Amino acid sequence: MGENWIKACDIEDVDEEDVIRFDFSGRTFAIYRSADDEFFATDGLCTHEKVHLADGLVMKNIIECPKHNGRFDYKTGEAKGAPVCVNLRTYPTKVHDGEVFIRIGSAS
Ligand code: FES
Repeated sequence: MGENWIKACDIEDVDEEDVIRFDFSGRTFAIYRSADDEFFATDGLCTHEKVHLADGLVMKNIIECPKHNGRFDYKTGEAKGAPVCVNLRTYPTKVHDGEVFIRIGSAS
């Protein structure tokens, strides 16, 4: 599907080591800002039950689900412990002129 960058937010919308929810086209995503000021994007819902990860807690490269405290590495999407066992899908991000974009077009 080629380049399909969607603006998710402005950089100042996300604090360092925090996450926000971004809804687009009937889907929900989570946008993370790491302590070293990089941006990452994953699916917005936990793979255990459909809970918004943006309501969870960011610790270093980990997002902790607010419901059962399942953990994922938000940089890779890797599930990091019970009860989550299915990885999160991740999406490429880029920053341009103070705005954060994610590329979701090639996701199946
Ligand atoms: S809903 Fe996320 S760990 Fe259960």
